[in-house]
Amino acid sequence: MEYYIGIDLGTSSVKLMLCNGDGEILNTVTREYPVSYPRPSWSEQSPIDWWEAICDAFPCLIKGIDGSCVKGIGVAGQMHGLVALDKYDNVIRPTILWNDGRTDKETAYLNEVIGKKRLFNDTGNIAFAGFTAPKLLWLRENEPENFKKIRKIMLPKDYVNYRLTGVFATDLSDASGMLLLDVKNRCWSKEMLDICGVTEAQMPALYESFEPIGTVSKGIASQFGISQNAIVTAGAGDNAAAAVGTGTVGEGKCNISLGTSGTVFVSSEHFSGDAEQAIHSFCHSDGGYHLMGCILSAASCNKWFCDEILNTKNYRAEEDAITNDMLGKNEVIFLPYLMGERGPINDTNATGMFIGLRPNTSRAQMYQAVLEGVAFAIKHNIDEMASLGVLVKESCLCGGGAKSKLWRDILCNVLDIDLNLPVTEQGPGYGAVILSMVAAGKFDTVKQGAEAFFKIKETVSPDKELVKLYASKYEKYRKIYPAVKNLYKELKK
Ligand code: XUL
Repeated sequence: MEYYIGIDLGTSSVKLMLCNGDGEILNTVTREYPVSYPRPSWSEQSPIDWWEAICDAFPCLIKGIDGSCVKGIGVAGQMHGLVALDKYDNVIRPTILWNDGRTDKETAYLNEVIGKKRLFNDTGNIAFAGFTAPKLLWLRENEPENFKKIRKIMLPKDYVNYRLTGVFATDLSDASGMLLLDVKNRCWSKEMLDICGVTEAQMPALYESFEPIGTVSKGIASQFGISQNAIVTAGAGDNAAAAVGTGTVGEGKCNISLGTSGTVFVSSEHFSGDAEQAIHSFCHSDGGYHLMGCILSAASCNKWFCDEILNTKNYRAEEDAITNDMLGKNEVIFLPYLMGERGPINDTNATGMFIGLRPNTSRAQMYQAVLEGVAFAIKHNIDEMASLGVLVKESCLCGGGAKSKLWRDILCNVLDIDLNLPVTEQGPGYGAVILSMVAAGKFDTVKQGAEAFFKIKETVSPDKELVKLYASKYEKYRKIYPAVKNLYKELKK
């Protein structure tokens, strides 16, 4: 018997997945942890919470199996977060997450003073508030004592790999989101490291996502009850791993993820990009490249509206109140910018907003508007890709939001494309399993692994009438942000 483990280090929880050598999912275990929002637009998390959650979940994951048969572990993680360790390997401060908006000054400096053209030339991307480089600039300016203490800079999943193996490493897909990597040439950008005041010695060693970085340490092998020969792969950013888990490898395939964030991910064998667009151009975990649009709040809008506003955990009952005849006819429109927005508007001042409320507006209509607003924001990114000549004609769909039939139907009709649902919606974890199999030598390439295991469970197709109705709603949605853009800036003061 042989087993492989995928760990998806998400923002609201960590999900561990156990598979056998045939790619069958034998067990999954989830542990939640908090996000703290110490100031408006800030978002932080403790790496210690991640690690403790993993240690707590691990015994439940492998209960009943022979731990000595675990051959490989792969970690997929939330991207862009700044994990900084001091000379004693202690975490210096809470991680500033991918959806944190505190760095607008530093982001503007990078885009306007250093200049988008030069950034694009050095890294293949422009600056966004959530990326790691502006966070380093922020730390240098606002917490100089902490900045001086930094010995190791890494991304969230690299911290987990470091605890598992003692190896200071990252992979190219995740490193792409730091704005410190020369994405096209797959190496650190000396220019960007200089701009941020850090050296290559503080940066992790670079690996392809499917390369082994080592085996678990002796201590971890005995703590977790697994073999010391279990190989740990470099792993990947959660989106690049989800793409592997959904067969989105090679040329021109698309995966949409409805997780805490929402992403549109298009795989490619070649590097491409544009300094004027808000689409990211990153290394893929299959050895190629990809383009990606990212919205900061997707399933998190759903969670916020149900948990905080409706004060319910029964999401299903809220969905059931939205009957088929209501689709495409909602007067209420929601802008899902709860954490500001990345793609394509790149605006940390933006906030969430309902428009179109009347005395007879129902709870169901407002909830429907939340789900529709996220779908519109995803379409906005797909339109941005189209302006680069990248047309999305069908897509896979993964992430927690993909479990909702209603949301799938809304998205499919807003986008007017077929959406393919994989057997598991847990794309990043399954992708991490496949990457660990490649690292352990079970497959020669990521493509082989993805093609061997990826299966479509169901395809959702658009309905002509609904597509027409949603097209006109989307037009209205697109008019709202430009109309309030300056107001957002004023309100923030
Ligand atoms: C991608 C991004 C998010 C996080 C969420 O650029 O910021 O998708 O990776 O986990």
